[in-house]
Amino acid sequence: TPEGWEGRGTGSEERRCSSLTADRSGSTWPRAAGGPGSSGPTELSRLSHGDLYRLSVTDPDRFWGSAAADRLRWAEPFHRVRDCDLSSGRIGWFLGGKLNVSVNCLDVHVEKHPDRVALIWERDEPGTEVKVTYRELLETTCRLANALKSHGINKGDRVAIYMSVSPLAVAAMLACVRIGAVHTVVFAGFSSDALAGRIQDAGCKAVITFNEGVRGGRVIQLKAMVDAAVKTCPSVQHVFVCQRTETPAVMGERDVRLEEPAVCAPEPLDSEDLLFLLYTSGSTGKPKGVVHTQAGYLLYASLTHQYVFDYRDGDVFGCVADVGWITGHSYVVYGPLCNGATTVLFESTPVYPNPGRYWETVERLRISQFYGAPTALRLLLKYGESWVKKYDRSSLRTLGSVGEPINHEAWHWFHSVVGEGRCPLVDTWWQTETGGVCIAPRPADEGAPIVPAMAMRPFFGIQPVLMGEKGEPLSGNDITGALCISQPWPGIARSIYGDHQRFVDAYFKPYPGFYFSGDGAYRSEDGFYQITGRMDDVINVSGHRLGTAEIEDALDEHPAVPETAVIGIPHDIKGEVPFAFVVLKEDLSDDAPAVLQQLRDLVATKIAKYAVPEHFLVVTRLPKTRSGKIMRRILRKVAMETTEDLGDVSTLDDPSVVKEIIEAHEEYRKQREEEKKKK
Ligand code: PRX
Repeated sequence: TPEGWEGRGTGSEERRCSSLTADRSGSTWPRAAGGPGSSGPTELSRLSHGDLYRLSVTDPDRFWGSAAADRLRWAEPFHRVRDCDLSSGRIGWFLGGKLNVSVNCLDVHVEKHPDRVALIWERDEPGTEVKVTYRELLETTCRLANALKSHGINKGDRVAIYMSVSPLAVAAMLACVRIGAVHTVVFAGFSSDALAGRIQDAGCKAVITFNEGVRGGRVIQLKAMVDAAVKTCPSVQHVFVCQRTETPAVMGERDVRLEEPAVCAPEPLDSEDLLFLLYTSGSTGKPKGVVHTQAGYLLYASLTHQYVFDYRDGDVFGCVADVGWITGHSYVVYGPLCNGATTVLFESTPVYPNPGRYWETVERLRISQFYGAPTALRLLLKYGESWVKKYDRSSLRTLGSVGEPINHEAWHWFHSVVGEGRCPLVDTWWQTETGGVCIAPRPADEGAPIVPAMAMRPFFGIQPVLMGEKGEPLSGNDITGALCISQPWPGIARSIYGDHQRFVDAYFKPYPGFYFSGDGAYRSEDGFYQITGRMDDVINVSGHRLGTAEIEDALDEHPAVPETAVIGIPHDIKGEVPFAFVVLKEDLSDDAPAVLQQLRDLVATKIAKYAVPEHFLVVTRLPKTRSGKIMRRILRKVAMETTEDLGDVSTLDDPSVVKEIIEAHEEYRKQREEEKKKK
């Protein structure tokens, strides 16, 4: 451990406590439930889960202050637990404290158990996994950090990471963290245009990438995508290139191969310095750079990782998300590493080389917690149980689901077939903006019932509130409303990069004084929560969040397309798929098939392949109100063939448009049926 770094069993208790009590009028601070592997029981660790929850909401300063003091190592102690004003979007936690997230994820564990495996890289080709110890990960992180520093990357600079799931991707994230640079990981499935947009918005000074990536047996040209992206990104001074495959990358003037010394002193950072930006979709065409900061995010990721999944020392934690999404950030990298866990990096796909891949991996790596997305489960259950049953899953203790509602069929299959009915299955609700899990069946005392397909219980410190149509908090149970959270928690996002007003408008204006999630939820008779889906124009395709406005913006760039409207409709495997209503310039209706193909390509180039609409319906005009607003409700009914009850159409500018669109859809449906028959 670098000199002067305190906390987490380094015998610095006295100094930490005295400094903390200064803010608490002399009362003594209890020690929180220590992280996994912490020495000895603490006051909070003796409390039941119910008591922990009660304390977290009745005395959040005490709960979170203790947790932060005990679980994290600080370079300087904080003097104030929180300073938040939700109505203005001002959120600060652990003020005055300095720490480094990479010290908490690496150095503290290297001191205790340098040879414990930190990462198991489950490479695309089964049976070729690579283990990386905490000592090795620290070394690689330091090498990368030194390379960044020697090329002029400093504290506060933004660095884009465009890499497939791998130890080097994790080391790249932690290298930024070590020197105080701010990373923004861009999912390697995004197009070069989408990458460029994120680099420009964040003003990145550097990009870290691979020569190539590999997934499902296919090679992905990552460096070439970066080359194309940085052409329009003048802020980028260097592209750092790591090797994933044997093929040498074509190197240009600003490109740097990585090789540097293996020791790098960590930068002490303020609790509220930026840790990372992660771009996600909202209801406008422009993705937003969600800002997370150091201490609060890390503490929340670490605490949720332990309590939601019942993580214990020695477990092999298997979250199969990509590091390009928030799930990868919180439960592949930061939560598990902060807790000294062995975490799996899954580079492949659920069906490569066959639909037994997940369960073969569980058997080979002896995975204890398996955390994945319902979309993959819905796909796998179609292949039958034998792909699961032929592998030994006795190592599994907890199953988790994330990213979208899990339907009953997938829940029961996961629980009974995969988990043999013996592993608690936790449906976890949270978002890029929440930093970590907010609602999940656990935490709860062991044995507390789990209701299938329900997220159920708020995590420590989370107070869900359901709002009615007039913006009033709804009391009582068996009720549905807009899901808000009434008190800030350490993991909540701090801003939208470069646009704090958008942050305030999106999350705190709709219900003043509350965080608004954008989701609706139901509170059952028993007081448990179930997520009912988005209330805005965000859709969820294969667990990936997508703004319909983003797709519309891409489509509208086509010169033959004056106007489009995109909505989401249900899909039995992907959850939802985009359905595009397209108005073409009049003289082009004969060329419609060619134009539609160009539109597909346009979306793939501007955003990503998964964003390409599954359906295109050419219409002569869209249903609009007199003030010019598109009535999406009607489009949804047409696309889902539920037009018997269209609701109130009196506000439409010209109601005859509805008949036109229904007829066009009927034509489209017939065509598709014929095509299916031919196939
Ligand atoms: O609509 C909710 C859905 O995913 C959205 C958040 O997406 P993202 O920021 O990409 O983060 C996904 C991983 C945390 C939410 O607004 N969602 C997430 N988890 C669930 C869910 N919907 C239903 N049930 C869930 N467990």
